[in-house]
Amino acid sequence: MKSRRSVLSVPGHMEKMHPKARESAVDIVMFDLEDSVPADQKETARAQVIQSLVSMDWGDKTVTVRCNALDTPFAYRDLVDIVENAGQELDAVVVPKVSHPGDIHFVHRLLEGIEMNRQRSGRIGIEASIESAAGLEAVSLTAKASDRMISLVFGIADYSASIGARLVSVSGHGEAEAEIYPGHRWHFPLSRIIMAAKANGLLVMDAPYGNFKDLDGLRRSAVMANALGCDGKWVIHPSQIEIVNAVFSPSPEEIERARIVIEAYDAAAKSGRGAVSLDGSVVDSATIRMARQLWEQALHLKLVSDKQ
Ligand code: COA
Ligand code: MG
Repeated sequence: MKSRRSVLSVPGHMEKMHPKARESAVDIVMFDLEDSVPADQKETARAQVIQSLVSMDWGDKTVTVRCNALDTPFAYRDLVDIVENAGQELDAVVVPKVSHPGDIHFVHRLLEGIEMNRQRSGRIGIEASIESAAGLEAVSLTAKASDRMISLVFGIADYSASIGARLVSVSGHGEAEAEIYPGHRWHFPLSRIIMAAKANGLLVMDAPYGNFKDLDGLRRSAVMANALGCDGKWVIHPSQIEIVNAVFSPSPEEIERARIVIEAYDAAAKSGRGAVSLDGSVVDSATIRMARQLWEQALHLKLVSDKQ
């Protein structure tokens, strides 16, 4: 399992940012064709993203593309052109403003068709961004709409606009929330998305934090998302990558705990028991699943070696 702690949104038309993204420490580079690209630059951005995908060496970076929303004149062409011409470089497409599982069925079918036509064996994943009231209501169906689904993303700025929540910051991306609401203002939608994702074996990514100069605010927001169950967080600026990677990396204490849990469980399984107690807490199949996920991530990040 590759690590998915951080996702850098890179405007598709900003050619000079593309090599910068590749050289960064981010886990996932997401080329954006949607919100960061003005309407009159949509075609330029699409062509530039294809060019960067096929001409640059992406090594083992995970690379995704966010298409435009499906109810715009751009999305179908984004999907067809990008996947036909550069699909072999892509790990997943990110679909914004998903409001209905039918949106995912549409993208799934289109990907099937293009991959059959190009005789490609690699399967491109789908990531769905939930950013409206309708999208949140349908999130459980969306999470199981296709076996290509990898993750759900919370689109905080568009979600707050969709429900008519007052904007408390310029970007609408999570700053100064504590001044208006005691606790976490987006606790409900985020936890609802997390529940739907985890019930279907998907990952969850938190929205980006808009003020890229406020690194303390970014850390707080990332720690909170991590505590709620998110696996990673989008970033909009390279300066945010280090903090997000650090917050979403397993800590030495968590790794040690996972090792102990796995050992205890394996020992119990050998003697025919499914659940054991460890320091007064129960270790059952859910605990072991979480411990194994954490261990795999630590292995991928080379924080532990196979032999341990
Ligand atoms: N991806 C890759 N490189 C980026 C980047 C990004 N998202 N954001 C900034 N950079 C690069 C800049 O090109 C600059 O490179 P340079 O030193 O070679 O000139 C360097 O990082 C420092 O950037 P800085 O000058 O501090 O920021 P800026 O004023 O150029 O850009 C933003 C600020 C917010 C406009 C820019 O970060 C951005 O467009 N972010 C993405 C926004 C987005 O995707 N929104 C939709 C997601 S919800
Ligand atoms: Mg948006």
